Amino acid sequence: MEILDGKKVSNEIKDEIAIQVAKMREKGEKVPHLAAILVGSDGASLTYVGSKVRSCEKVGFESTLVRMPSTTSELELLNKIEELNKNEDIDGFIVQLPLPPQIDTQKVLLAVDPDKDVDGFHPMNFGKMALDMSTFIPATPFGILELLERYNVDTKGKHTVVIGRSHIVGRPMSILMGRKGWPGNSTVTLTHSHTKNITQIISQADIVISALGVPKFLKAEMIKDDAVIIDVGITRVADDSCEKGYYITGDVDFENVSKKASFITPVPGGVGPMTIAMLLKNTLLARERHRSRK
Ligand code: GUN
Repeated sequence: MEILDGKKVSNEIKDEIAIQVAKMREKGEKVPHLAAILVGSDGASLTYVGSKVRSCEKVGFESTLVRMPSTTSELELLNKIEELNKNEDIDGFIVQLPLPPQIDTQKVLLAVDPDKDVDGFHPMNFGKMALDMSTFIPATPFGILELLERYNVDTKGKHTVVIGRSHIVGRPMSILMGRKGWPGNSTVTLTHSHTKNITQIISQADIVISALGVPKFLKAEMIKDDAVIIDVGITRVADDSCEKGYYITGDVDFENVSKKASFITPVPGGVGPMTIAMLLKNTLLARERHRSRK
């Protein structure tokens, strides 16, 4: 069994990006600038966005965090997005999800300029991804592809089972794993809450990508020998004995599943850090595109 070490690989990617940014600075060029909008103060979202901003500093990007109260109206958020769309200094930005219930997420995602949509959530970018055109690939699926590639995991002709059909992970992942190329070229089954015989389907998988959010859902007896296991779940479980009052766990019963898998991602330290590294990669791409257009 080999650990797909997202922490290590993400640090390598950040180092690669930092070298490119240092070269930009040396030449007197503008460095990439990422902005993030956070509406409200959901604990997990605060942690993720804080991490994204810190990573920008680490690689030498400019970063801006826009915080708005949880009572923000849809119009106020749309106005802020328009402001960032027009701000020439900002190369890319994200609107952290989920949004409060008074705001229509689809309207918000449509409002982001596709050229600055480093999350790859705008329908134009999502469509391009599905059609194999060059675009911003959503950071979590992009990070999983990068891990599979850097560890030389064979995906061609394999059966990939994706658990969960969210727009952020499961849906794009299912498209990417079936695309022509590598990583890809696999036969994909997208499973969700209405899937019948899910355990039987999982037992046939060469590659399992779980983005369900149910702690320790995937047990050793459910998987095939030598399956590749990608755990996208990040759930906070309340526990007073921990300093923070909770601990983080994934969808996979790591202790037992790892004994049977060929490759496996840990939680934390697997997919999570890769997501941030790939967001930085998309921001660098946005900067390069903006420069070449001028
Ligand atoms: N919420 C959970 N994951 C993500 C992500 O990748 N991007 C944004 N914008 N919000 C998220």
